[in-house]
Amino acid sequence: MKKTIWPAATTLVSFSAYFALRAWAAGPIREEGLRDLLAFCYALLGVTVVRCCSYLFFDLLYLKRTGRKAPGLLKIMFSLVCYSTLFMLILGLVLKYDVTGLVATSAAVSVVVGLALQDTLGNFFAGASLHIEQPFKIKDRIRFRDRAGEVESVSWRSTTIRTSGNSLLTFPNGLLARDPIEVFPYDSPYQNSVDFSAPYSVSPETVMSIAKKAALDLPDVSYEIEPTVRITGFGESSVAYEALYWIMDYMKADDTGARLRQRLWYAFYRDNISMGLPIRHVLLDKMKSEDRQFKTEVDYRCAIDGIDIFQPLTPVEKEALLTLNCVRVFGPGEYMVRSGEAGDSMFIIGRGKAEVRVSSDGVHSTVAVLKTGGFFGEMSLFSGEPRSADVIAVEESEVLEIRKTSIQKLLAENARLAEAFSKTVTERLAGLEEHAGLVRRREEIKVEQGRFLERIIRFFNLG
Ligand code: CMP
Repeated sequence: MKKTIWPAATTLVSFSAYFALRAWAAGPIREEGLRDLLAFCYALLGVTVVRCCSYLFFDLLYLKRTGRKAPGLLKIMFSLVCYSTLFMLILGLVLKYDVTGLVATSAAVSVVVGLALQDTLGNFFAGASLHIEQPFKIKDRIRFRDRAGEVESVSWRSTTIRTSGNSLLTFPNGLLARDPIEVFPYDSPYQNSVDFSAPYSVSPETVMSIAKKAALDLPDVSYEIEPTVRITGFGESSVAYEALYWIMDYMKADDTGARLRQRLWYAFYRDNISMGLPIRHVLLDKMKSEDRQFKTEVDYRCAIDGIDIFQPLTPVEKEALLTLNCVRVFGPGEYMVRSGEAGDSMFIIGRGKAEVRVSSDGVHSTVAVLKTGGFFGEMSLFSGEPRSADVIAVEESEVLEIRKTSIQKLLAENARLAEAFSKTVTERLAGLEEHAGLVRRREEIKVEQGRFLERIIRFFNLG
């Protein structure tokens, strides 16, 4: 606003002088002699009006609407257009010059200059639009045509960025206006990703927790947003993973990526995990389903000894259960058994934790949490009935699956086992019901045992 005070004051003084002289002078002297002074007065008035408008449009309205200061380039362009129009008006209307020739000449000159300076003018207008739209600010990181860097300056002709190698790259604004620019605001986090692979023999849960920890331990990685690790594919010799983590500075993306790969190498090396290099196994024998790479560290002999259902078995029969069945691993949240599905196997939890969930009217409720040594699925195994509940792994869990075929083998060799199984399974059922508040009499349990025995005989064809 200060910039309008002196032109306004001078305008006032010069107009006063003009009117005083006009009153004092007379006739043709008054008209001719005072024309130049009048043109000067209008020029001063024009400067005052242009400055007032500039203040109104840019310092008040623009700031209010966009919340930021108007770019200087825009102000200069506005002033240039206004002053050239003012110049023409004063020349034609006050000083009575014939401006048509001047307009025609300046139009022709404009065309020639425009053609000659095509690129420069293109950059100039692109720069003006960059200043107005401000798609990025100084200090933001931008990626343009495979080159990335921190924005150092934006002039009317070009934009300069500083690369991670400390070199300066200058792009003409006209070029920036043509192609997409990726902008990484300097005060916002950026999600970076690193691809790596791990062997099939190591469970995803193990790999994911190693990678997450490795990412979180890096100095430039944000610990406020948890990294994510996901499987992106199953390769010929390894599982492909992607680690996604957040960094505050895009310029450190390559650096943190390299450091994460280095940390992963150490972490894998410590845990004896190979990096999943292309290794081809030539299997000369026919592969049995039991020949899985997974090696269990759980003592299932001990687990079987602790389960009441298997109390009637001799040590040899228990050993047979181990050799005839195999171990399976479930990740967190995986359904091991689904309610209503057909099932003919039971499971002993060797490692981990599982949740037994029942649903009624669309409402899920957890009825039991089973830990290491616990078992489930015995009801369908012995009766052939559909599964009575969902059983879901709470954490990575390893289970021994005992299939119908193995129990059938034992029952065929020892007929008395059917009775023993029906007794223990019914008693367990009564125990579960009692736990849920439904107490049964001994006679009722006995009748239930008889029914269950019949079901076992039917299901296992023991007739
Ligand atoms: P099954 O019906 O074969 O499959 C679901 C399993 O969940 C079931 O066998 C039982 O082993 C187990 N189960 C069902 N209800 C309960 C409960 N109330 N408490 C513990 N385990 C249960």
